[in-house]
Amino acid sequence: MFSCLRRLQTVQITRHSSYLAPKPAGPTHPELSPAQRAYLERVIRVDQAGELGADLIYAGQYLALSHNKKVKPIIKHMWEQEIHHRQTFNALQTEHRIRPSLLTPLWKVGAFGMGFATGFMNKEAAMACTEAVETVIGKHYNQQLRVLTNNFHDGADSPEIQHLRSTIKVFRDEELEHLDTAIEHDAKKARPYWLLTEGIKTVCKSAVFLAERI
Ligand SMILES: [Fe+2]
Ligand SMILES: [Fe+2]
Repeated sequence: MFSCLRRLQTVQITRHSSYLAPKPAGPTHPELSPAQRAYLERVIRVDQAGELGADLIYAGQYLALSHNKKVKPIIKHMWEQEIHHRQTFNALQTEHRIRPSLLTPLWKVGAFGMGFATGFMNKEAAMACTEAVETVIGKHYNQQLRVLTNNFHDGADSPEIQHLRSTIKVFRDEELEHLDTAIEHDAKKARPYWLLTEGIKTVCKSAVFLAERI
């Protein structure tokens, strides 16, 4: 189904690497403690799973709302950014030799289903979904930034950690832009708004909890 979707995808993947800090050269974080290394692995695993999910949520919404000429380019723009986020974490995962979440097939089906279902309901429901997802992800990235700033300064502020921090900062800002876009495009008019947004937030928080561990 996803390979079929990829063929449908007309989005040209834009590479935004110029606005990220330069990629560090040399050996991979030899100076990190085992606890810091474990945290780094956890961050990259959960963020790769999250960005994979975000890519597929927007893919589902784009497909379900492909008849809506007004909202299509808005979703397309956010989707392109999510594709870039996903590719970045894919590359980090390979570079640091971190296994993906074992629940990846579940994330794929669940995310695409959630995007398609909310898009199928209407534009407002799709935007409420985006509002809920980006609220959770914005907080999640802020939490990671706090740990990467406060717990990685004891002589272990390696180029890898600096690079990861700057990457997460850029992505956090883009997620918050998506949140603003969703609100600007009538997320609050979705019905039933509270049920939709609170339900999706709970699903996202549970997915983050699981992807960090499994
Ligand atoms: Fe993202
Ligand atoms: Fe996003």
